[in-house]
Amino acid sequence: MSSLPALPPGPRGLPLLGNTLQFQRDQMGFMRETQQRFPRIATVYVAGVPVVFCFRPEHVLYMLTEHPRNFTSLQSNGGLKAFLGDGLLTIEGDYHRQQRRLVQPAFHKRRIEGYADVMVQYTQEMLAGWQAGSEVNIAYEMQQLTLRIIVKTLFNVESRVQVTEIGEAFTNILDAPPPPPREMKLLQLFQRVRGERSAQQEQKVAESQRTLDSFIYDLIAQRRATGQDTGDVLSMLLEAQEGSDTMSDKQVHDHVLTFIAAGHETAQNTLSWTFYLLSQHPEVLAKLINELQTVLGGRAPTVADLANLPYLEWVINESWRVYPPAWRQGRRAIEAFDMDGYHFPAGTLFLLSQWVMHNLPEIWGDPEVFRPERWDPEHEQKIPHGAYFPFGAGPRICIGMPFAQMETRLLLATILQKYAPRLVPGFQVVLLPRVTLRPKYGMRMILEPTASRELPVSV
Ligand code: HEM
Repeated sequence: MSSLPALPPGPRGLPLLGNTLQFQRDQMGFMRETQQRFPRIATVYVAGVPVVFCFRPEHVLYMLTEHPRNFTSLQSNGGLKAFLGDGLLTIEGDYHRQQRRLVQPAFHKRRIEGYADVMVQYTQEMLAGWQAGSEVNIAYEMQQLTLRIIVKTLFNVESRVQVTEIGEAFTNILDAPPPPPREMKLLQLFQRVRGERSAQQEQKVAESQRTLDSFIYDLIAQRRATGQDTGDVLSMLLEAQEGSDTMSDKQVHDHVLTFIAAGHETAQNTLSWTFYLLSQHPEVLAKLINELQTVLGGRAPTVADLANLPYLEWVINESWRVYPPAWRQGRRAIEAFDMDGYHFPAGTLFLLSQWVMHNLPEIWGDPEVFRPERWDPEHEQKIPHGAYFPFGAGPRICIGMPFAQMETRLLLATILQKYAPRLVPGFQVVLLPRVTLRPKYGMRMILEPTASRELPVSV
């Protein structure tokens, strides 16, 4: 028996409702405010359930890297489970470890590098359809592009019509608030009352889910029918053996859906937020364009060029700090444990937030400043382990990290040599914190040709 107190204190809530209203109204703001009042750790009560907000890098390390086996993901019971089924993000324990080993070869560096040409080629095709001076919704353009790339590279699908259709289906699903974890079923009622998940929206989500299901099941049926091994992730999943069995269609479906969802949504948000940040920081944009012009001189980037484009890497790292596409992670304790002077019973729910951690003044000094030079190894800030974790950490670290790091750099380098998108004057950028951090009304930008930009003289 531990002699430590159970559950840390936290902000006072309302009788019966606890902190539910504050949490539902503005999750990001509520987490930040709570951190300011309870700098290390705090318990809040949502829908009658205690949830422990953890604000220290040590907590990230404890749960994600040092004791990961004592925690399950909140996505795997409730959360994304209803949408993704049993894909890598939403399975646990031995099954997770075995499935991760199985698909890991598809994400090895050498294999990923083989996708670079498709990434650049599809970006060039998109650029060929763009017109100087015109207005686009960059968020939509980036969704289409990253979706085309993920379905081509991992599953060898090329149809643009299908990409448009499944893009719309993903938007409908991901714009809606995600279903709460199993303990918080009451929250669904709140979402209804607040009009966040009306019956009409539920129907739209269900239709979108059917669109995605039939796209993926057709794909599996076609590939099984031809029996062709195209060497892509789909072939790998279809041939994988578990004992003497191969995977069922449902298992393959859930993996495919997870890879498509996780593989484009976060990348498109990275690109949208980065274009936004660049349009707000002309001196950073100018420095980046200068680097691209010096190293590439107008030609298409290759994997080999990336090592010579350090500023590009810093810009993206800094964008992930300021607008982390995965802005929080939830965990549930399997067994009771002690941490940071408290005793947590089995079943306790925890939230870690990249959004909060990437903005702590005691770690970053001036977190409100967008400053890519933070990532310069020569003057790199001393960043404690666990304080920066856009891709998570430990055995469940994002399997697609090398893919995303290469893709976002190649796409930005290709686009920025032709256009420097500028935010439409007066357009309101609003954060929509869902499973990912999305721009609520998209990102309307004007395509300003890079060649006609006046660069500040200082670069
Ligand atoms: C900027 C881009 C991306 C970001 C910020 C990101 C972020 C994350 C984070 C934070 C996790 C850990 C979730 C947790 O532990 O609860 C994760 C897991 C995962 N990501 Fe990504 N991701 C990105 C791109 C991708 C791509 C391109 C793919 C696939 C091609 C992908 C597939 C996955 C999968 C399958 C998991 C589950 C891994 C496991 O549990 O073993 N992600 N991602």
